[in-house]
Amino acid sequence: MNRLDLNGRVCIVTGGVSGIGLAIARRMADSGASISLWDRDAAALEKVARELSAKAKVHTAQVDISSYEQVQTAARATAAHFGRIDVLVNSAGVAGKNAMVWEYPVDEWIRVHDINIHGTFYTCREVVPHMQKNGYGRIVNIASIAGKEGNPTASSYSSSKAAVIGFTKSLGKELAKQNITVNCVTPAAVKTPILEQVTQAHIDYMLQKIPMGRLGLVEEIAAMVCWLCTEDTSFTTGGVFDLSGGRATY
Ligand SMILES: NC(=O)c1ccc[n+]([C@@H]2O[C@H](COP(=O)([O-])OP(=O)(O)OC[C@H]3O[C@@H](n4cnc5c(N)ncnc54)[C@H](O)[C@@H]3O)[C@@H](O)[C@H]2O)c1
Repeated sequence: MNRLDLNGRVCIVTGGVSGIGLAIARRMADSGASISLWDRDAAALEKVARELSAKAKVHTAQVDISSYEQVQTAARATAAHFGRIDVLVNSAGVAGKNAMVWEYPVDEWIRVHDINIHGTFYTCREVVPHMQKNGYGRIVNIASIAGKEGNPTASSYSSSKAAVIGFTKSLGKELAKQNITVNCVTPAAVKTPILEQVTQAHIDYMLQKIPMGRLGLVEEIAAMVCWLCTEDTSFTTGGVFDLSGGRATY
């Protein structure tokens, strides 16, 4: 594994205690960053903070990203703790239930959107002003191939991730002249605990759509995301990066 240059950068990773977010936090810790882990799981925050503290300065915020008030508090606490914020990775998210649209529970539809897209809006809304203060920033949102293609029985998830893609393009343009880039990645299925939320039939559907014939690895997602968080990607904003083992065709 090569070492990326995140020396001295203060990086927030929402959902940073599990799956893709955890792999990103680990790669950042190996790359010289200070890390603020934002998650709603207090026990996992404590455990992962203990692990990463061996390599990096670590701060934690127990936060439900679907609560705007909690996100405001977490952003203030992180800025006060480190004195600056350079990077925001939005990885916290849920898959939601599998069901046809005409049978989809309305409260579940709203919950998935509250977390996956409203939460991403809240974190960006609160963190961007800290980046503007320093004239530098990198934001990476974890969208999904489902947001480009639409997976059957996952309309709420697909719709929320399509919204993340559109949101990324809008914010990228808004910040284009401020040295703050905003990009997203669109993974196909990756082996993480989120797959426990969906049916085996749905996992089989996603797997057979991947030309490489396997699930993605969290380290593969972390490699691209962390590279997008470095200074090297200075001419790239509003971008949508494929991580799909060949599934994406556009
Ligand atoms: N694993 C996949 O197949 C896959 C594919 C494409 C995109 N993604 C996206 O990648 C991101 C990470 O997923 P993962 O597979 O690592 O899942 P995961 O379940 O392993 O991790 C998600 C993390 O988000 C946290 N979280 C969930 N809701 C939250 C909330 N309201 N507030 C704060 N924290 C919350 C969870 O506690 C958990 O730590 C998600 O946005 C997901 O949609 C995953």
